[in-house]
Amino acid sequence: MRGEVANISKDAMFFALGWSILVLSWVIKEQRMKCIIRGGRHFVIGSVDKRIFGSFLEQFGRAVYGGVYEPTHESADEEGMRGDVIALVRELDVPVVRFPGGNYVSNFNWEDSIGPKEERPTRLDLAWRATDPNQFGLDEFMRWTRKVDTEAMMVVNLGTRGLAEARDLVEYCNHPGGSTLSELRRKNGADEPYGIKMWGLGNEMDGPWQVGHKTAHEYGRLASEVAKALKLFDPELEVIACGSSNSEMVTFPEWEETVLDHTYEVVDYLSLHMYFRNDEDDLATFLATSKRMDAFIDTVISVCDYVKAKKRSDKTMYLCFDEWNVWFHSNEQDKKLEPWTVGPHLLEDVYTFEDALVVGCLINSLLRHCNRVKIACMAQLVNVIAPIMTEDGGPAWRQTIFWPFYYASRYGRGEVLDIRLEVGTYENPTYGEVEWVDALAVHHKEERELVLFAVNRHPDEEISVTLDLSDWEAQVIEHITLEHEDMKATNTKEHPDRIAPKKRGGDGLTLAPLSWNMVRFTVKG
Ligand code: AHR
Repeated sequence: MRGEVANISKDAMFFALGWSILVLSWVIKEQRMKCIIRGGRHFVIGSVDKRIFGSFLEQFGRAVYGGVYEPTHESADEEGMRGDVIALVRELDVPVVRFPGGNYVSNFNWEDSIGPKEERPTRLDLAWRATDPNQFGLDEFMRWTRKVDTEAMMVVNLGTRGLAEARDLVEYCNHPGGSTLSELRRKNGADEPYGIKMWGLGNEMDGPWQVGHKTAHEYGRLASEVAKALKLFDPELEVIACGSSNSEMVTFPEWEETVLDHTYEVVDYLSLHMYFRNDEDDLATFLATSKRMDAFIDTVISVCDYVKAKKRSDKTMYLCFDEWNVWFHSNEQDKKLEPWTVGPHLLEDVYTFEDALVVGCLINSLLRHCNRVKIACMAQLVNVIAPIMTEDGGPAWRQTIFWPFYYASRYGRGEVLDIRLEVGTYENPTYGEVEWVDALAVHHKEERELVLFAVNRHPDEEISVTLDLSDWEAQVIEHITLEHEDMKATNTKEHPDRIAPKKRGGDGLTLAPLSWNMVRFTVKG
């Protein structure tokens, strides 16, 4: 009898314990941090120009030599282009690649890079203090763009050179034939004109480090004459004037105002550049750094619209964010490099998991401004601050930052919705109140799909997401995440897939602490 009583009370105890665990987990679930996303089909910021997923290949470091071009590599094709790199660039699906610089372009003679390779001069690149044997030049680049299925953005040298060279370059590239320079291109193997549509008027001309740096007035006058000449050649060309190298430049934003005063009616885009760093190792601040990008874009838009008003113009100036990325890991090791070598290991940032989260937020910032930012180039593409890394004579692999770019490039082309977030915030000394979630929604009308890109900035809270889309009903198709317990984890030659996307399932829609997410929904209604 005593034994039975003891058994009953034991059973009762287990029963009660089971219930308490159930109730407790229910309470915890109910108390889980929430994010409500409100929006709907009628609230649209704009359509994404696919060129917002552009990239940048600068002729220095191992971007070209050992990156896209390595004739002795086992995957190289008959022209010496690495096949493994071509495959990864095609995966990223970049619609435009800017070339040949960057700082490099301001000391570059395009004529050195064409014709028989053995006759090309070896030149010193003053910007990066390296030697360039000119074995991968303009024609090779154009042939490579066809292999990776992209369009070129050609940048002209407005540092050591100017109007005459830009005029010659556009004739060489785009004129069908019958003139000396177009016939020279044909002789060099390109019978058909390249039809390059996008032309950059120099690079970071506001920067004192630039070879041939100029004041805003000097640059504005020159840029307007070069733009005029390019458009006399072909009014359909799209021309990009240099904005500031970043928002910390002492000349920002007067630079924009003065340059636009000179060029407003002859250029189509104003450029922006910005790089992001975490050298203080302050994760909460680093994760909020896309706020700097937001503020920079918003200020540049204000200046453009101010000049528009001043000029009584009907034209809207669009933006070309042609250099952006995280860049700081390689700074110390770069100081130790020998100058004047060919293909030095320059700017070879090895990206961490936290960099991938930040890149996810930066892409959201660009997309959020898609009504004004029409072109953007992640800087850069291979080896030099890049999503793709290679070893000379060895493999190529995807860095952590490859993944948020890959998914945005694949699924981020559509209409960006003007959503509102209801979510908790944290206080940051640099950026003030920062939302725990950075989210962006893209609608694909034809596919009846909604794609959510979201970063959970919270260090330890899972956040549950609820969509309130007025007359739409949404059902999850798939949820892809990047998650890792170590913020400093990297992808390396030995461990190329340490940071790789995973499918996330489970009960309800939740964002793991410190994670990047893409959720695809079908929408009905
Ligand atoms: O992308 C690396 C360098 O950063 C570019 O050459 C220059 O334009 C910028 O300062």
